Amino acid sequence: MATKKIVTWTKKDLLGLEYLTKEEIELILDDARSFKEVLTRPLRKVPTLRGKTVVNLFYEPSTRTRTSFELAAKRLSADVINIVKESSSIQKGETLIDTGRNLEALKTDIIVVRHNCSGAAMMLSRSVSISVVNAGDGWHEHPTQALLDIFTLKEKLGAINGINVSIIGDIAHSRVARSNIWGLTKLGANVTVCAPEGLIPAGIEELGVKITNSVDEAIKRADAINVLRMQFERDRAEAFPSTIEYFKTFGITEERLKNAKKGIIVMHPGPINRGVEMSAEVADGANSVILEQVTNGIAVRMAVLYLVAHAKREEAPTDAV
Ligand code: NCD
Repeated sequence: MATKKIVTWTKKDLLGLEYLTKEEIELILDDARSFKEVLTRPLRKVPTLRGKTVVNLFYEPSTRTRTSFELAAKRLSADVINIVKESSSIQKGETLIDTGRNLEALKTDIIVVRHNCSGAAMMLSRSVSISVVNAGDGWHEHPTQALLDIFTLKEKLGAINGINVSIIGDIAHSRVARSNIWGLTKLGANVTVCAPEGLIPAGIEELGVKITNSVDEAIKRADAINVLRMQFERDRAEAFPSTIEYFKTFGITEERLKNAKKGIIVMHPGPINRGVEMSAEVADGANSVILEQVTNGIAVRMAVLYLVAHAKREEAPTDAV
């Protein structure tokens, strides 16, 4: 019988899945499973982060991710502060680094940052000694989204090694795609990316993925599809003529899913543009796990907050068991 390697979490930050080992990713997924059990209790709270303060520092809009981090921190008994761009000194020209240093001077413990610039989370992490968790930086990475996607796949399929996952949509502008590619390939999944030619980033095959421009082919070979939103806010670069044409060529419909493997899993990180990347019937259909992804996000973020706050410790989250 294979014995599981004991892994110690040593990183003060979570910046991206590119920077984690397979074992570190598995450690987060294992801890998330324990924390998910906490969410089923009548009293959904453990004292794990009592006395710690988590700051949600969001420079971009967010519904799910910000709420999910806030709930995760509160379920761990941390104090939570939310800072949004529109109502903070960011509006007065304060830099990200100055804001971070001030949050450190205010004796907070973890900054969860979302920023429109790729690399912002890493830059912040180098400027402060408190923990930084990347909640999405530009086109770069969105590690907790990929972790919750992978957690959901593991729950549904039992394992990640050897499964076929097709990521369909705006690959070029998607931090969700990049984090999923890093995470899934490290855990042994076969990943295919599917998009119009103009939305496939140059060199993506070097990350170990297959490429196709045919959505039917991407669906046919998949145990799961992860469908991405068109990132209209990030230079769409005229990759296709209209959303109507996009839906016709790349939209996921019940008709298209007829050629899929039985039980194919349909995922989407949200927010969904119904009738653009996916029909309403598919979004709400029997194969969709989209809302389960959202629930799993809390457990995964509890695990991440726990691990970065207790870096260098090796024990299981005993409060959760
Ligand atoms: C994603 C994001 O912001 O990167 N959403 C999310 O966090 N759930 C994907 C998107 O905006 O399309």
